[in-house]
Amino acid sequence: MLSHLFVNGLTFALLSAICLSLPYDGTQQVLSDHKPSINLPTNDGFVLPVFDSKPVSRAEEIRSNRIGYQYGPPLLGNTSYFPTGPLGDAMVQRDKQMWFQDVQYVTEKVNGIEIPQAARALAEIGGIKTLSDYATLYDGQWKYSIPDGVSPGMLTNWTQDLLFSMERLSNNPYAVKRIHPEDQILPFEVEQSTAKKLTNMSLEELHRTGRLFVADHSIQAGYPTIPGRWTAACTAYFYIHPKSGDFLPLAIKTNVGRNLTYTPLDDENDWLIAKMSFEMNDLFHGQNLHLAATHDVAEPLHQAALRTMSSRHPVRGLLDRLMYQAYAVRPIGDEVLYNPGGFFDQSFALNNEAGRLFAGDMYPVYAGLFRSSQFRPDLVTRGLVNCTYGPQLKSMPFYETVEPMMTAIEDFVTVYVESYYPSDALLTHDLEVQDWMVEAHVGAHVLDFHPAPLTERAKLINILSHIAFLCGIGHHVLNAATLGEAAGILPLHPSAFQKPLPECKGCIDDLMPYLHNDTEALKQASLLVRFNRPLLEEWDGNLVNQWSGKQFLAATSDSVREAAAKFKRTMESISDHIRAQVFDDNGFGPQGMPFIWRSIDPRKIPYYLCV
Ligand SMILES: *[C@@H]1O[C@H](CO)[C@@H](O)[C@H](O)[C@H]1NC(C)=O
Ligand SMILES: *[C@@H]1O[C@H](CO)[C@@H](O)[C@H](O)[C@H]1NC(C)=O
Ligand SMILES: *[C@@H]1O[C@H](CO)[C@@H](O)[C@H](O)[C@H]1NC(C)=O
Ligand SMILES: *[C@@H]1O[C@H](CO)[C@@H](O)[C@H](O)[C@H]1NC(C)=O
Ligand SMILES: *[C@@H]1O[C@H](CO)[C@@H](O)[C@H](O)[C@H]1NC(C)=O
Ligand SMILES: *[C@@H]1O[C@H](CO)[C@@H](O)[C@H](O)[C@H]1NC(C)=O
Repeated sequence: MLSHLFVNGLTFALLSAICLSLPYDGTQQVLSDHKPSINLPTNDGFVLPVFDSKPVSRAEEIRSNRIGYQYGPPLLGNTSYFPTGPLGDAMVQRDKQMWFQDVQYVTEKVNGIEIPQAARALAEIGGIKTLSDYATLYDGQWKYSIPDGVSPGMLTNWTQDLLFSMERLSNNPYAVKRIHPEDQILPFEVEQSTAKKLTNMSLEELHRTGRLFVADHSIQAGYPTIPGRWTAACTAYFYIHPKSGDFLPLAIKTNVGRNLTYTPLDDENDWLIAKMSFEMNDLFHGQNLHLAATHDVAEPLHQAALRTMSSRHPVRGLLDRLMYQAYAVRPIGDEVLYNPGGFFDQSFALNNEAGRLFAGDMYPVYAGLFRSSQFRPDLVTRGLVNCTYGPQLKSMPFYETVEPMMTAIEDFVTVYVESYYPSDALLTHDLEVQDWMVEAHVGAHVLDFHPAPLTERAKLINILSHIAFLCGIGHHVLNAATLGEAAGILPLHPSAFQKPLPECKGCIDDLMPYLHNDTEALKQASLLVRFNRPLLEEWDGNLVNQWSGKQFLAATSDSVREAAAKFKRTMESISDHIRAQVFDDNGFGPQGMPFIWRSIDPRKIPYYLCV
């Protein structure tokens, strides 16, 4: 406990030093807010340009920001611009310093204590020899970096098909979609008798009745790999069972080598390696999609705001709050994660270049689309919620968990926006906001963005709520605790195979030669736990505190402060609910899954883009 406090105390001291020595004041309020803050003067709160008593200094600030913040080339894939210019560069440097403070605790514990401890545990059992030995890598391990431990059920129930399929609706909910009966064709065939035996329907019947889903990672077949490591590029079918209503896997096609199609009727080892292949592709998908779909969308909108709005503007103030430390991630990712031979290359079969390519491939067609990829429209488009051409999913954990969180965000943002804009007219005549909207299109090139001018408060509420979603929930469903608790747990979720996929069915006597040995397993586990930030609750950096920054709130009004307090209570109660989940008598969690999914607990996830 003492050592926790010491590390924290040290962090605070360093942070304060960094904040105080900043060369500019544009985003000071964000900086000093996250951790206990030095009390900067807050005499001038947020104010719209028309009511600002210092219009001259305000205009001067914006003029120098337009010079100081420039759009630089994209980083980590051909996606959105990365900031440069004198102020942009200083901001990035500042964020990087903050990031290293943020991660220091985890780095020290992982390197100094956890890796040696896990290695000892593996040595004590004589190394990993069977599938069940992988549990030793997690049992009682990584207690500092992942205090909640592996999701209950993930170490015991990982061979179950329902666990595999329900991960598509929780750990990474962005890959699967329902196949429309008329508009879409089937990517591959499954033997009639196999489909009938499993589902009591043919593939065509499943398709026609709106019960068939696909998750397609075939694009990964075209990306470069690391020599000596192998992966697949799976396309998988899932279906809603006509009788039980369960969401289950039907078939997995590997799209590499002999291009075999596996089903649950195959030999145990065959079906397991098929599921592992899919999970490998899905882990790659989630990690690289998150860059393109969250960082690369929020950043250009904020960059446009830096160039068009004063730091006294309430919209800019809200964005500054959300974008805490955000500009650290791409450059640090470029330097230590996606660098040649870096962390990524050390664990994954597809190399760092593949990660960049995938982010660039996804950005213009899906990830970067501001309106259509929002939480609700995206789930409806993919037929996962409120489907009009097939039965509803019996359980959709991602939607059910996040919907109340999203509503809480919108409730707060509504009060915030309405407190500054009692009418749409005031918004319409806000020149800074209108400049921002234009800049987002012509300067930052945000894709599928609301058209300028912005004349309805509801649209501003939508924009700000979505950015808040991206920085917190949208990011962390794929990242942070999710990786070390569930989405990267061995042996179901390997980062690479150690030999090529089999050439025939029924020829795997032993899966172990395909899978990570002790060294590789330890590398994967220790890499993935680094994405968590276990001290957030003490730092007030979790989602519960998304709007609770002292400096931020001091610049607002009573109604906003009340709304922030209400938001906090709502998130705490959602968190209580998530923490109370247990298995029922049949061994299922409340969401009908054979594991308990609690990785996006609002007390646990950051409100900001942490990694
Ligand atoms: C990056 O993407 C843009 C827009 O999609 C495209 O025009 C450009 O050619 C791409 N650049 C590279 C280097 O691939
Ligand atoms: C399979 O479907 C047929 C109708 O297509 C139905 O009569 C039969 O009861 C179903 N069998 C099972 C086991 O659900
Ligand atoms: C695998 O089969 C699918 C169709 O079933 C086809 O589209 C794909 O190109 C094949 N891939 C390889 C590597 O043979
Ligand atoms: C689904 O439909 C319900 C009932 O009409 C509605 O309340 C909910 O907002 C819809 N959800 C989405 C994501 O559209
Ligand atoms: C573990 O696997 C890696 C990658 O295949 C290999 O380089 C290493 O020699 C193996 N270690 C042991 C102890 O077998
Ligand atoms: C899942 O695992 C837990 C123990 O971790 C067990 O209690 C439960 O019965 C299992 N559920 C199923 C459906 O097997």
